[in-house]
Amino acid sequence: MSTQDSTTDESEESGEAIIETSSDVVSSKSRPTSGPPVFDVEDLDVFYGSEQALQSVDMEIPSKQVTALIGPSGCGKSTYLRCLNRMNDLIDAARVEGEVNLNGKNVYDEDVDPVALRRKIGMVFQTPNPFPKTIRENVAYGLKIQGYDGDIDARVEKSLKQAALWDEVKDQLDSSGLDLSGGQQQRLCIARAIAPDPEVVLMDEPASALDPVATSKIEDLIDDLAAEYTVVIVTHNMQQAARISDKTAVFLTGGELVEFDDTQTIFENPADDRVEDYITGKFG
Ligand SMILES: Nc1ncnc2c1ncn2[C@@H]1O[C@H](COP(=O)(O)OP(=O)(O)OP(=O)(O)O)[C@@H](O)[C@H]1O
Ligand SMILES: [Mg+2]
Repeated sequence: MSTQDSTTDESEESGEAIIETSSDVVSSKSRPTSGPPVFDVEDLDVFYGSEQALQSVDMEIPSKQVTALIGPSGCGKSTYLRCLNRMNDLIDAARVEGEVNLNGKNVYDEDVDPVALRRKIGMVFQTPNPFPKTIRENVAYGLKIQGYDGDIDARVEKSLKQAALWDEVKDQLDSSGLDLSGGQQQRLCIARAIAPDPEVVLMDEPASALDPVATSKIEDLIDDLAAEYTVVIVTHNMQQAARISDKTAVFLTGGELVEFDDTQTIFENPADDRVEDYITGKFG
């Protein structure tokens, strides 16, 4: 199933691709799907007051893969992401209906503790938001809350290494996280999110405030993270979705999930004309 490399006859390139893609642009990672999906979302509706933001969304999110959520501004991507770890609970106006099954258990069941849930499902936001604490304290934060009694410094080091930040900060672990550059702060937030060893990492446009070099580091990092974690990422950058994800979900205005498929299919041969129009920039 792997895409042919560039040594093959270029004249045989298909004329069918709807955006300029090549084997090294569209993800062809073919990370193996392992077992049942992590999330099985069924008939999910979200309302803010009387406004409906998501409409009967069904989606199975595969384990240890990168799933990208794309679509025009206001189509409900962040709302959807926040349903997965019940962050919408924190928004008074939000009402969620339907099921978000995590390993077969609906996270909206009454006996689910949202705080414990969010430990299993880490989140990284658009704007880096380190706590006004030291680098070490930022990464150790979740571990301390969960009463981790192992070697915290070892976990801090491991998480910073996984977040590709260790080499840059290992001699300044006790200086403030706020003194880092924007790209470093975002990697610190990723280290903080993965330190408690979550199952899933949610990212809402994690690179949109960063320059191209920092963005590229985050993209490499996401690729590494998918070996160990399930990653669900919202991005406005279609090339980024094409580069880094295995699956892509396309939401359109009104909160409808229009198409969800392998990333290569979405970008090269989508089933829905509206997806093709969106990807080729006809709207959105
Ligand atoms: N806290 C809120 N209160 C009321 N309405 C909200 C709230 N958050 C989002 N909405 C509405 O829900 C809809 C979906 O918003 P959401 O933020 O999920 O979209 P999005 O796809 O993430 O957009 P963007 O790409 O601009 O981040 C929009 O119409 C938005 O105005
Ligand atoms: Mg958003």
